[in-house]
Amino acid sequence: MVELVYTQVSGTWPLCGMWVRVPPRAPLKKIGTRTGATFREHPGLVRGRVPPRALRDRFLITILFMQTHDTIIKNIAEEVRKKLEDEGSGHDWWHIVRVWNMAKHIGAQEHADMFVVELAALLHDIADWKFHNGDGTVGPKVARQILEQFSIPQEITNHICEIIANMSFKGAGVQTPMPTLEGKIVQDADRLDALGAIGIARTFAYGGHKGRSIYTPGQKPIMHQSKEAYMQNDSATINHFYEKLLLLKERINTKTARALAGGRHQFMEEYLRRFFREWDGRI
Ligand code: NI
Repeated sequence: MVELVYTQVSGTWPLCGMWVRVPPRAPLKKIGTRTGATFREHPGLVRGRVPPRALRDRFLITILFMQTHDTIIKNIAEEVRKKLEDEGSGHDWWHIVRVWNMAKHIGAQEHADMFVVELAALLHDIADWKFHNGDGTVGPKVARQILEQFSIPQEITNHICEIIANMSFKGAGVQTPMPTLEGKIVQDADRLDALGAIGIARTFAYGGHKGRSIYTPGQKPIMHQSKEAYMQNDSATINHFYEKLLLLKERINTKTARALAGGRHQFMEEYLRRFFREWDGRI
């Protein structure tokens, strides 16, 4: 006979206060990880005993709400896909998919609230300041409008918008601290996508999008000390490796992401060495 435990969910919407029936121990953790909710056993219920009918009805409500989490993520992903599908600067839908997958991978290792992680990853480039004259308020504002359509509670919406506002690199001399674990994870996932072979492809796509030259001999990289100076920069794309990409390895937040960043960083250094040798006709 399977022993069952009746627990009440605490902490995270939309499961908060609902009753859920689960086999003891391991599955509790599993469900908790998936939804970001935490569980505690109700003192009034004994293991294996069926609760009153009213509580069983609430158990059914719980299952419906649990599906809602997945449905929200799926629907928001669909909105983002429609909006960014034809984007040509390297901030397209497939960038979002890679960041989303990477954030899920890092988040699972770091035990984060996955609902926040997934939504922040999906919405992080919905209206990037780089494409709105440096206005960092547009991204969080558009994300908030989308989250409101899905009736996400204020607390979760605020957390996601705060992550989006603090996400991006704003110059070599500008710190971009991320206060929460979920934010650190999404920022790492985004930064990993700026490194390695993918990072190189995206950098040249972005340079082309901005009409920049590939490389201009004699033009030195600049370590920008403000977001404004970084934004006004229109030097050759190769400079961007020194002004941003090669600096990212030191700004990775989590252990899981750091393990991946090293190899991607090394590949870019190799790429640059080869680039200059070919430029000079040495190979
Ligand atoms: Ni991004």
